[in-house]
Amino acid sequence: MNNGRVARTTRAVYPGSFDPPTYGHLDVVERASHCFDELIVAVVVNPQKRDPMFHIEERERMLVECVAHLPNVRIQTFRGLLADYVKAQKADVIVKGLRVVSDFENEMSTALMNRALSKVDTMFLMADQKYSFVSSSIVKEVFFLGGDVAALVPEPVLRVMSAKRANLHTS
Ligand code: PNS
Repeated sequence: MNNGRVARTTRAVYPGSFDPPTYGHLDVVERASHCFDELIVAVVVNPQKRDPMFHIEERERMLVECVAHLPNVRIQTFRGLLADYVKAQKADVIVKGLRVVSDFENEMSTALMNRALSKVDTMFLMADQKYSFVSSSIVKEVFFLGGDVAALVPEPVLRVMSAKRANLHTS
């Protein structure tokens, strides 16, 4: 009991494409892991984003390495509706990251739709402002045009990206 209330475990789901995971994503994961008892990072096959650069299994493996220091975080993958997934997981909350105000416009309608479908609310966390310009798509573009993204993605991600770039150049 906690102030007369029964203490219960809180489970959050942080969904995303993570194609690839960035330090901005990892920052949100770390912050959310301090807010909830359990955090599931759910890697989604997003039908709106055709031709991902990384297979879902690659994204899952990269994330597993990136969160190895966070004991209450686990990685899963799923296809289909997020609302169905969070209900199946008995999640209390969906976590999303916001970088800039313009992110909010899309996220608001998505959060309302997910709540209408699942009764699960979305909570937004801001990543550190030093990651406010970091997105998976900008990281991919800069990296594959030869730019240095070492400050923007965790080491396990940089390793997989470098291997993919080397493969592109040899094939
Ligand atoms: O990292 P992203 O691509 O911004 O993540 C968006 C994502 C994958 C969380 C969102 O597209 C999603 O929830 N997809 C699952 C399909 C779904 O439930 N669509 C309806 C959303 S209201």
